[in-house]
Amino acid sequence: MAKARTQFVCQNCATVHARWVGKCEGCGEWNTIVEDDPTAGIGGGPGRTPKKGRPVALTALSGEIEEAPRIPTGIAELDRATGGGFVRGSALLIGGDPGIGKSTLLMQAAAALSRLGSRVIYVSGEEAVAQVRLRAQRLHAADTNVLLAAETNVEDILATLSEGKRPDLVIIDSIQTLWSDLAESAPGTVTQVRVGVQAMIRFAKQTGATVVLVGHVTKDGQIAGPRVVEHMVDAVLYFEGDRGHHYRILRTVKNRFGPTDEIGVFEMSDKGLREVSNPSELFLGERNAKAPGAAVFAGMEGTRPILVEIQALVAPSPLGTPRRAVVGWDSARLSMILAVLEAHCGVRLAQHDVYLNVAGGYRVSEPAADMAVAAALVSSLAGLALPADCVYFGEISLSGAVRPVAHTAQRLKEAEKLGFQRAVLPSASAEIPASRQAGLTEIEALADLVVKIAGSKKRPNDDSGDATL
Ligand code: TYD
Ligand code: MG
Repeated sequence: MAKARTQFVCQNCATVHARWVGKCEGCGEWNTIVEDDPTAGIGGGPGRTPKKGRPVALTALSGEIEEAPRIPTGIAELDRATGGGFVRGSALLIGGDPGIGKSTLLMQAAAALSRLGSRVIYVSGEEAVAQVRLRAQRLHAADTNVLLAAETNVEDILATLSEGKRPDLVIIDSIQTLWSDLAESAPGTVTQVRVGVQAMIRFAKQTGATVVLVGHVTKDGQIAGPRVVEHMVDAVLYFEGDRGHHYRILRTVKNRFGPTDEIGVFEMSDKGLREVSNPSELFLGERNAKAPGAAVFAGMEGTRPILVEIQALVAPSPLGTPRRAVVGWDSARLSMILAVLEAHCGVRLAQHDVYLNVAGGYRVSEPAADMAVAAALVSSLAGLALPADCVYFGEISLSGAVRPVAHTAQRLKEAEKLGFQRAVLPSASAEIPASRQAGLTEIEALADLVVKIAGSKKRPNDDSGDATL
């Protein structure tokens, strides 16, 4: 029986094509199609007959539950993001831009665990041993018992790991460099990455070691190689940050053993990553409260409140089509707020360029930031600075109504802790502590906020001084 042995797979989106084409039908990218062997590493292969199945015992949902055994690293921010430490026998994928600090973070984690007596093996496929040693020295990790290898062949790595005592933690830096004899395609291709990752996951499950895999991300922010890798591992974390800024955020996007909305915050220094236990102070650090166009957003990341400054610049546009530029927020969401301001609040922005920036390079994904964005925009347009001790949060609907958001009490508490006496929040917000009623302004419709900030609906750019709110 003749069987098609090869297929053609897009390296960008993993769409499978029957023959080679220049442009991927799935994602529209050019020159991303590579010949691939679909059976490689899956144990099938031509000529092999599958073994006969054996029935397994079925059990009930109720019964004893074992807490996943964890190894805390002692790096609190890392443990927070992973949900309390690395789970034994699990595979973790850490993605991030090149140069963001993945290797640094993992070397620090390796050193910390090694100091606690764990056996840690660091396999680097990207750097030579000397380079990794140099980094370890810089991080003051050179005196630990972390074992190093510069290797990219999956079979060799597995043979090395199986020798001697079972490791507690294995770090593979990175999955894009892995290649296996089982697959015929070139290193870095979808098949090679998949086969390599599969083998490492199998090793984790069999031995109970935690395997941490490093993956690079493509320009649109996904882990390069097949998306399927994210489905195979137990947890996916992204290490994010702006190259121009010092702090980095470890964000959990998938976690089979813990929460997915937690973040860990770090600051990159000349001695490696430093934990930031109070991120709000960091993001509000260089604040100029007197300038118009800046509003402090009381946000949440998982269970943790974070205050961050939202900056807007609204200026008359010399262009026919005014510019809208956003950093750190969703641009579609900005368009929506601008439309609501135009349609329901009488704020004319069609002739203005609008720039929006989240201070410090932080990325806000919560809809609760709508109110702070609107406040910053109106403040900039009116040329009136917002009160320095006020925070803003609330979701804005297309009708111009302001909707309550969750965690009101926590947001207010964090604001109070950092000296913000006042808050502008949706009316009908639940869980407002009685002690905090004083400085609160409850807003029902966005138009009310505009009036509060600019005094009247149509008074852009006239006088200076403080707005009422
Ligand atoms: P690295 O961990 O190599 O990034 P990745 O593995 O994600 O590609 O980190 C690279 C950057 O971090 C590099 O630009 C230098 C900087 N860095 C510091 O600022 N301080 C340090 O102590 C270390 C080790 C790196
Ligand atoms: Mg690296």
